[in-house]
Amino acid sequence: MNLDDANPDLFTTAGKLADLKVRYHEAVTASGETAIEKQHARGKKTARERIEELLDHGSFVELDEFVRHRTHAFGMEKKRPYGDAVVTGLGTIHGRQVAVYAQDFTIFGGSLGEVAGEKIIKVMDHAIKTGVPIIGMLDSGGARIQEGVVALGKYGEIFRRNTQASGVIPQISIIMGPAAGGAVYSPALTDFVIMVDKTSQMFVTGPDVIKTVTGEDVGMEELGGALTHNKISGVAHYLASDESDALDYARALISFLPDNNLAELPVYENAVELEITDEDRKLNSLIPDSPNQPYDVKTVIEHVVDNGDFLETQPLFAPNIVVGFGRVEGRSVGIVANQPNAMAGTLNIEAGEKAARFVRFCDAFSIPIITLVDVPGYLPGTDQEWTGVIRRGAKLLYAYAEATVPLVTIITRKAYGGAYIVMGSKQLGADLNYAWPTAEIAVMGGQGAVNILYRNEIKAAEAAGEDVAAVRTRLANEYTYNVASPFLAAERGELDGIIEPAATRVAIIKALRALRTKRATLPPKKHGNIPL
Ligand code: HXC
Repeated sequence: MNLDDANPDLFTTAGKLADLKVRYHEAVTASGETAIEKQHARGKKTARERIEELLDHGSFVELDEFVRHRTHAFGMEKKRPYGDAVVTGLGTIHGRQVAVYAQDFTIFGGSLGEVAGEKIIKVMDHAIKTGVPIIGMLDSGGARIQEGVVALGKYGEIFRRNTQASGVIPQISIIMGPAAGGAVYSPALTDFVIMVDKTSQMFVTGPDVIKTVTGEDVGMEELGGALTHNKISGVAHYLASDESDALDYARALISFLPDNNLAELPVYENAVELEITDEDRKLNSLIPDSPNQPYDVKTVIEHVVDNGDFLETQPLFAPNIVVGFGRVEGRSVGIVANQPNAMAGTLNIEAGEKAARFVRFCDAFSIPIITLVDVPGYLPGTDQEWTGVIRRGAKLLYAYAEATVPLVTIITRKAYGGAYIVMGSKQLGADLNYAWPTAEIAVMGGQGAVNILYRNEIKAAEAAGEDVAAVRTRLANEYTYNVASPFLAAERGELDGIIEPAATRVAIIKALRALRTKRATLPPKKHGNIPL
């Protein structure tokens, strides 16, 4: 610190206050103009700018701005900026408390050494103790190379806290620069990962190491850019077009989530119409006459949630299942829906894992789940079997079967085989199950069933020179009518009712009202053993 600039007399109160001012100024400007310009030139904001934009204006309370590293290795003692390479603190989003940290790439490349680690650990502990969401903004070269094992140890402590906080407070990671090496595992342990297009990367081993070890040539963006992790790996939940978009998405996400696992869900005033409206009636013509023709399940979702306001998570990964948040009567709900528009809505490994993690998140934070079912079954093939559709597909079953939150299921069309069971069936524990009259519930679809049940009839028709396709269709229709009719399921009480599509919104409102007092517990245990 250059005391000459301010020249405070430290033996007076006024001098001490002036000294504080000087030091504070030094702390908030520690990066220096050049580093900030470099950061901006890359289309990236500084840590402080990100925090300012994320939080409600003026709500930020910084912690540990006077922390400094204690390292002497490699001449580090000559450069000891206040605050080190991360800005941490508390603030509000939509008036609700949150804890935040933002790694500061302009200082030591945002790398995590002993004191930067301690700052993050402190703010995480605060979030856990007070039961508020934590949002991390990552932009870092990883473990501080000069600090060796001390830096690695701090990562270990962060991972342990991420894990212990899992299911207790919502944890959101926004990747706004590099996240390399083992450092990626902190965001991986959090509930939602938002990545900024073109300026964020996540990988365990970088392009150079990959080239040396495997000879594979791959660029940073292709290896671990935002598009890669949103579309291919499923690591990320949202592809933000820029930093402001990423911060907006995080704010929107928070609006649907409770502060912690014991807190009430946020409630937004929203009066609903309990009569069927003209808008509702549009759903009556959504389902095409041909079972092979797709439709967009998001139309149903938008009809069901307040003001059509649906915040989808992981929209680019496994688009054959749609998951995300909405509100019904101003209260948060999680939606899980097969998407006939993508792969005919079949379930595969990716879809199963995506939905399972979402269901478990909702259950952990007492967010009721609405399941919309239109699923022709599991995707067949050696690829699926050999990559573990049995083990990995079991996750969704497990997630629904252990869920104790209100579960409301609507079967819109196909509900075949194991996929019927897994998609929030009554037998797995759903509370209120409805079907539209267009539903088909059976072990398999009509065409498949006909091949097995009517093999001889089809052969005979062939031998007699009849129109085999027409015979097949007739038999399949008979099967669907006689076996797959939702009225058979309703007759046995496997469904609680059959409703016209137009009545769905009102039925869901009433179902969720009826389930608000639901109490359910699982047998006491240390923890279950979900197939991983
Ligand atoms: C110390 C680091 C650093 C690090 C970057 N810097 N990473 N300092 N430890 N890990 C410093 C640089 O020396 C430089 O300082 C400044 O930050 C900016 O870095 P640049 O290289 O100039 O920036 P850029 O060209 O944008 O490259 C960014 C980068 C690169 C891709 C992140 O810096 C990089 O490859 N860093 C090393 C990444 C890495 O391998 N980390 C270890 C991962 S393993 P000056 O003073 O010149 O401005 C890991 C294990 C975690 O993290 C284990 C958990 C269990």
